[in-house]
Amino acid sequence: MVNEEGIKNPERFLKAPLFSKDEAVKAMDYVAEKTRENINDFTDKFPSSASSGLMYGKIDNNDWTNGFFTGLLWLCYEYTGEIKFKKTAELQCESFKNRIENKILVDHHDMGFLYSPSCVAGYNITNSPDMKNSAVSAANQLITRFREKGEFIQAWGELGPQETNRMIIDCMNNLPLLFWASDVTGDKKYSAVAKKHAITTLKNIVRKDASTHHTFYFDVETGKPLKGVTSQGYSDDSAWARGQAWGISGFSIAYRYTKIAEFTDVCCKIANFFLNRLPGDYIPYWDLIFDETSNQERDSSAAAIAVCGLIELSGQNVGKYKPVYDGAISAVLRSLTDNYTTKNEKSNGILQHGVYNKPEKIGVDECMIWGDYYYAEALMHIINPKRKSCW
Ligand code: GLY
Repeated sequence: MVNEEGIKNPERFLKAPLFSKDEAVKAMDYVAEKTRENINDFTDKFPSSASSGLMYGKIDNNDWTNGFFTGLLWLCYEYTGEIKFKKTAELQCESFKNRIENKILVDHHDMGFLYSPSCVAGYNITNSPDMKNSAVSAANQLITRFREKGEFIQAWGELGPQETNRMIIDCMNNLPLLFWASDVTGDKKYSAVAKKHAITTLKNIVRKDASTHHTFYFDVETGKPLKGVTSQGYSDDSAWARGQAWGISGFSIAYRYTKIAEFTDVCCKIANFFLNRLPGDYIPYWDLIFDETSNQERDSSAAAIAVCGLIELSGQNVGKYKPVYDGAISAVLRSLTDNYTTKNEKSNGILQHGVYNKPEKIGVDECMIWGDYYYAEALMHIINPKRKSCW
């Protein structure tokens, strides 16, 4: 049973003026301008997952984050109609085809992060059979990591040893690839895995107070749930802000595909826990244990992910929370737009003040490529609420 803490100060969200379509257009102009500037550097190469000194480096298609830049290109094409965005995204989808065909660094669960914003988004726009096939192949790869004992998709590492036998909250956002694959192929095996994984997440990763563990171990022999452990959060019993945001986004999308009411219900509880711990400017610290006295860094990327989740959630049966979530979407988007973009900095990123992995001191107070992506996706939903999501 997950407790419902409600919204402690609904007024701070209800009073937020609407983040208008005009504001979203202006903000998206900036996203398109920055992405246009970056195209020559990032056609054959991709931006690194996090910037260093606010500048992304160039990497090959070999990380879990490559799909986000291709996703940005598709969003910018959708927004501007400029052919250069489309052509570059198409070239990058060729690289994703090569990656899955040759199984290049795909022995992990992040197939959704890689293939939904790249090949699924591209397929939605172009109807390309290659993009569809690449994304379905990625879904096939992902389901190989399903552990029958415990009923979860194993996140990282070799399948078999006890030390790697765990799931993580982030994986909720790899599930849309599986739901999508069932829709396009008619084969229910993908959505069956996704549904089981989401239910196991609900039962084990979501704590009684509606905060979330980052990772959770299962007994490899019996499948018995063992314990929650953090990897990127402050401590095993704190709530890593981005994990909580992945939960909002992941459970709201899982409801869209399954219509399981418990997913919306738990999503509201996870969202309320997140919203109740936002500081004055509505952008979370990198772990929700921190407050304004902590002197810790914000994670703007968690805010951007959470907004996309709230946009999805607000369209579901959330009753009295709808105006609160709508206010929160406006408050967070305005804060990101006014105070968290790179517009006054020398940077090839879009959103600054993100944190990738504070415990390991990687990407602290930097741009995150997924932060840029989710910010743009949220803006595009404001500009065109009827647009088709790639998730
Ligand atoms: N999925 C990894 C992260 O959010 O850092």
